[in-house]
Amino acid sequence: MEQEDLDKVMAIEREAFPDPWHVSFFKRELRSRKKHTHCYVARIDNIIVGYIVFYVFCGEGHIMNIAVDAEYRRQGVAKYLLSSALEIVSKEAGNEVFLEVGANNTPAKQLYRQFGFKVYGIRKKYYRNGEDAFVLRKDVEYENSQRSTN
Ligand SMILES: CC(C)(COP(=O)(O)OP(=O)(O)OC[C@H]1O[C@@H](n2cnc3c(N)ncnc32)[C@H](O)[C@@H]1OP(=O)(O)O)[C@@H](O)C(=O)NCCC(=O)NCCS
Repeated sequence: MEQEDLDKVMAIEREAFPDPWHVSFFKRELRSRKKHTHCYVARIDNIIVGYIVFYVFCGEGHIMNIAVDAEYRRQGVAKYLLSSALEIVSKEAGNEVFLEVGANNTPAKQLYRQFGFKVYGIRKKYYRNGEDAFVLRKDVEYENSQRSTN
């Protein structure tokens, strides 16, 4: 994800969430990406159709945001973004990944279940509309990128 992608990213974000991130959140994450934040877009025919923002810090990965353009859902875009993120977490020595998902967000809960995420806790009234969030967690196997060359 680059600064010039933000118009399209924000269009997807506003459609996807009742309480969307402000564009300054994305800008902040893009600025800090050299440290530990990762921001990626997925494209089909060079059109941005989804994105993911996550970080890896002290052995923990955190999925901060993931969304797919409504016109391109159910085509495996989120699966692609999430599996790519998990691969990066494992390469960066992350051994577990956390995220929050709305208790009523069936598509996202199904997605994470498919990837083996398990409920780790509940944050009551986490979202502005009063919806609870489930904290989900998944073990990640550390994949040492040097291993194959040693
Ligand atoms: C959740 C979201 C990212 C899924 O994106 P997507 O590209 O449509 O997902 P995929 O096509 O990769 O589907 C992966 C799996 O997610 C689940 N899933 C996706 N949409 C679903 C739906 N409408 N109902 C039930 N399960 C669904 C399924 O398990 C699916 O696997 P399958 O196709 O083999 O059945 C998308 O619906 C979205 O952007 N929602 C709004 C934003 C959001 O809620 N983000 C998550 C915040 S925690």
